[in-house]
Amino acid sequence: MKLRSISALAPGVLAATALTLTAQTLPVIRTEGSAQQFILQGKPFLMFAGELGNSSSLTAAQADEILPRLAHLHFNTILMPVGWNQIEPEEGRFDFSILDHWIDIARQQNIHLVPLWFGSWKNAFSEYAPTWVLSDTKRFPREISAEGLPLEILSPLGKETVLADSRAFAALMRHIREKDGSQQTVLMVQVENEIGFIGVGGRDRSEAANRLFAAPVPAELPMYLDSHRAQQPREFLDQFNPTGHTWKAMFGDFADETFMAWHYGLFANQVVKAGKAEYALPMYMNAQLPAPFEHGGEYPSGGSYPLVQGMYRAAAPAVDFYAPDIYWPDFAVWVDRYRGAGNPAFVPEARLDDAPGNALYLYGEARGFGFSPFAVDSLPVEAEQEADADPGVANVYGVLSVVTEEVLEAQRKNQIRGLVLHANSPRPTQTVSLDGFLFRATLARTWPARQLATQEGAMMVLSTSPNEFLVVGSGLTVTIVRDPDTDEQVAQIAGVEQVTRQNGQWVVERVLNGDQTDQGRALQMDPHAIRVYRVRLVTYPRR
Ligand code: DGJ
Repeated sequence: MKLRSISALAPGVLAATALTLTAQTLPVIRTEGSAQQFILQGKPFLMFAGELGNSSSLTAAQADEILPRLAHLHFNTILMPVGWNQIEPEEGRFDFSILDHWIDIARQQNIHLVPLWFGSWKNAFSEYAPTWVLSDTKRFPREISAEGLPLEILSPLGKETVLADSRAFAALMRHIREKDGSQQTVLMVQVENEIGFIGVGGRDRSEAANRLFAAPVPAELPMYLDSHRAQQPREFLDQFNPTGHTWKAMFGDFADETFMAWHYGLFANQVVKAGKAEYALPMYMNAQLPAPFEHGGEYPSGGSYPLVQGMYRAAAPAVDFYAPDIYWPDFAVWVDRYRGAGNPAFVPEARLDDAPGNALYLYGEARGFGFSPFAVDSLPVEAEQEADADPGVANVYGVLSVVTEEVLEAQRKNQIRGLVLHANSPRPTQTVSLDGFLFRATLARTWPARQLATQEGAMMVLSTSPNEFLVVGSGLTVTIVRDPDTDEQVAQIAGVEQVTRQNGQWVVERVLNGDQTDQGRALQMDPHAIRVYRVRLVTYPRR
């Protein structure tokens, strides 16, 4: 039933009914057993996602070429920029024709969309604000550098700016509800993009900002942080003094960055609230992550990454969650930091070249609902699978779409693990423990030369029934032993099959044994293709 038809009914009793229906039917992120899952039309949904390059979605025609290609490569969700300057070229005049075409083509291709609201900020800068905003620096003030120069960055302190951005975002959400509320091609929305101050000193030095920076910190901020200490990182707590009154006294070395985070957070909260009042899809914010030893201002200072995420949580309760753009090698570390801060595992941007292994980590070990490498429109249609090439993202999504139900169930029951191993990983072996067994993985090697057969291997292990597992992965040799903490039994491989599913039925593609299982002692995965292996184990007494 559509919302409009509900609200036309009698008030009172029906108001409650409308609320219930709205809450049930809108997409939502919900804790289901051991996982935070994305619920679409009442059912958990895994996003096999990718983000488009910045210049790939600003014409309608690009949808016709890009979306069919990505559907062929097994993507079911595409993150796409929607620029403020695109939808509101003149103040108050909105044009959603390009977005509408993308939604129409996405539907034809069975693809979902996650619009990225490039509003006041995109990678710190304000390039996507319309000309009528950028040209009126009195009404829409800029941030000021340490040298006193205006930057190409709108100030979060601009009262008219937050109103204008909120109005545009509300119009966008209203339009999406009207066009898509019943079909839900659009799943959720990213608000702004990699917010933060770029420049020496890591803080806006406008008069307004300097005045606020010298004034007492709003009391609700230290109160919030003090009562949520467990979610704050140790390096933040080392500097945090809840009884200091000024930003400097309270936040020490992080004063500039916490100040910016608080004000960006207040701005984002207002934008998100305006959008949700029209259409309450889940809304999240992404962040650029600092490289080691980088200083706030070299990366966008005051973005919503874990060091200052507490400011956002205090200032922006309307934001549903925060997500990392992970281009650094320590993918798992950042995923785990974000989860530790209470976020569901969703990665809106990551490197395309090591996507397959990181996808397995994200859906497996992190029990995440979405992984989205960047610039996926650059993939050629034949990227599906090339013999002897390393597996690509199309390969991993194609295989994961075969085991989606098993993955979702194993996430809920905490019966899934995952790992990624690189030729330059600190140790050559990694182990995960699941349901009484230890799965010890090393990178696959050639025979007889014993050279590394690949530079990366990854797997996801799911427990499906006692002593039986599905292992999804490539490039690893996995030995399996009984976990000595379980009992005193010994484990042995009883059978390995390479399987797939056709028309809902499992089909055995190959039975692996002899040289292919090192005489029954190991699961030896294909170094060049992600596959699904069904592994049966037996255990017997030690003596
Ligand atoms: C992060 C941004 O969010 C993206 O829009 C893009 O600029 C990538 N960096 C790098 O190309």
